[in-house]
Parts: sequence; structure tokens; C-alpha cells
Amino acid sequence: MTGCCGTGEKGHAGDQSSLERVDLLSNERIAEGVGLMILHAPHTASLVEPGQFVHLRVGRGRDFILRRPFSVHRAHGEQIEILYQVLGTGTLAMAELGCSDDIDLIGPLGHGWDVPENIDHALIVTGGLGAAPLGGLAEKLAAQGVAVTVAMGAPTQERLVGRDVFEAVTRRVVIATDDGSEGEKGFVTGPVARLLDEGSYDMVYACGPEVMQREIASMCAKADVPCQVSLERLMACGIGVCLSCVVSTKDGLKRACVDGPVFDAGEVCWDASEIPPKH
Ligand SMILES: Cc1cc2nc3c(=O)[nH]c(=O)nc-3n(C[C@H](O)[C@H](O)[C@H](O)COP(=O)(O)OP(=O)(O)OC[C@H]3O[C@@H](n4cnc5c(N)ncnc54)[C@H](O)[C@@H]3O)c2cc1C
Ligand code: FES
Repeated sequence: MTGCCGTGEKGHAGDQSSLERVDLLSNERIAEGVGLMILHAPHTASLVEPGQFVHLRVGRGRDFILRRPFSVHRAHGEQIEILYQVLGTGTLAMAELGCSDDIDLIGPLGHGWDVPENIDHALIVTGGLGAAPLGGLAEKLAAQGVAVTVAMGAPTQERLVGRDVFEAVTRRVVIATDDGSEGEKGFVTGPVARLLDEGSYDMVYACGPEVMQREIASMCAKADVPCQVSLERLMACGIGVCLSCVVSTKDGLKRACVDGPVFDAGEVCWDASEIPPKH
């Protein structure tokens, strides 16, 4: 498998991923249409690196033949947390799962965030549920003595999910909401532009709607700050076989499930004009 970017420590468990029967410890609604699931998953918890994901079987029957991919929000001891947004059949079923349900997952999967050695100051940018793969990263960076600034964007104050995790590791949390119910009114890209002007960041880590990530990637390129993004694709197999999850990069097509989901933002072809011609 190929690396995602940089030369630092890679979030990658490689061939150590496996099928794991897990116990659901809690499954709470934490905001409108958003749940937080805590699973007893000792194998995955012991190996997962921030930014990696699990492929979860959320039910039995025809609708659930395909697993659903979810980032590990945080891992502590033998437990992992999943922050999820209810969108369709699978996530509706997830919201109904209780402690006696039979659940399994394949994990940990994919390449997580690259944490180069010698970084002093990192900027984490979240858009809505984009906070999901960044909780464990914030904790890891803080534990390594990296100064962390977080810029969070969400539709409303209630949807600033994962905020408690970020506020536990840094006082520098800047907020923007679409409706102005907290922080600056508007998209998170507004505060990020100012932070990039003011700060000297060694790395930007971003996850959220793709249009937001593309904008952040462009701002970082102009500011000459390296940036990593976590991309979502429809994933059938999750292990590199089906090619349902391809991402166009300057090095050709890559599979988000094994080459990502974290990519160097400068490597991604954000529109068709960036795709290199075939020879
Ligand atoms: C690596 C990875 C990590 C992810 N981590 C999280 C996470 O931590 N929390 C979270 O809430 N969601 C996460 N997602 C998205 C999540 O997998 C989908 O929202 C989920 O599979 C939808 O399942 P469903 O059956 O409810 O929806 P469906 O009924 O299948 O679809 C509902 C809607 O979701 C879209 N959708 C379905 N699957 C995906 C997908 N894989 N990626 C993007 N959109 C999709 C469909 O196009 C449709 O619009 C992640 C996706 C990937 C690829
Ligand atoms: S999901 Fe099958 S190759 Fe990525």
C-alpha cells in the first residue's frame, strides 16, 4: 500500500485490521440527527490511529449487506467512539441499536493523519460532522506538545459536535455557525483565512463537506502551509478491492479506503482541469 503524504508518523495499521465482534456500551443522541456510539472494541482500540476508520455492520438483511464506513472519533483503553449523522437506512438503523444487539466491524482501516516530527503549531478545521476523525488527532497532537488551534464550523450551535474534546486540549477554539447562533456568522473559511494570515502553522488538518475542504486546500496552498484532508467516498468493500471509492490525484486514481481517506490536499485533483492527461 502507498503512503498518504509526508514522511512523519503514519496513521496506518496495515494488515493488522480484522473482523471484530464488538459490544455496544452506549448510543446517545447528542444533537438533532447526530449520535455518539461507544463500542467495546479492544482489537481496534489497541491499533487505531487518528483518521482511520472502521467498516461497521449496522444490521442484518438485504439493506445491510454492505457495511458502512465510520471514522473512529477517539479511542481510549478498549473503547472506541463513533460520531454519526443520521442520513439513510444504515444510520437510521444505527440510531436504534441497543446494548444487546449483535454488532461487528472490520478495523482499523485506511491511512490516517500524518503527524510529521518537529511540528510546533497545528490548525484543525472542522465542518459539521467533519469533527469525527479529528478528535483523536487533537488529543494526540496535544499529548506530543504541539500547540493546537481549532476552527469549527457548523449549521447551528447545537451541531458543534466534538467541541468538548477540542476544548479539553486547547483554549484556542474559534467558532463559526451558519445562523450566527454562536461565534462568527457564516462559513468556517472566514476565520480560517484570518488565522492563516496571523499564525505560523506547520500543518493544517481539515475535514468537512468537500467544498469546504477544497476551499481550505486552496487557502493553504496560497499561504504555503501544508494541508491534509479526509475525503469521503461511497465504499463497498473498504479493503481496496472494488474500486468504488476512487479519488483523482496528481499521481492518478487512488482508493480512499486504503490510500486514504487522508490525503495531502496538494495531491488531490479538486476539479477535472487538474487531472493529468493520459499518455
Ligand atoms: C472513510 C469514511 C469515514 C466516514 N466517517 C463518518 C463518520 O465518522 N460519521 C458519519 O456520520 N459519517 C461518516 N462517513 C459517511 C457515512 O459512511 C455515510 O453517511 C453512511 O454510510 C450513510 O449510510 P446510510 O445507510 O445511512 O445512508 P444511505 O441510505 O446509504 O445514504 C444516505 C446518504 O448518504 C450518502 N452516503 C452513503 N454512503 C456514503 C459514504 N460512504 N460517504 C459519503 N456519503 C455517503 C448517500 O449518497 C446518501 O445521500 C464516513 C464515510 C467514509 C468514506
Ligand atoms: S471501497 Fe472497495 S476499493 Fe475502496
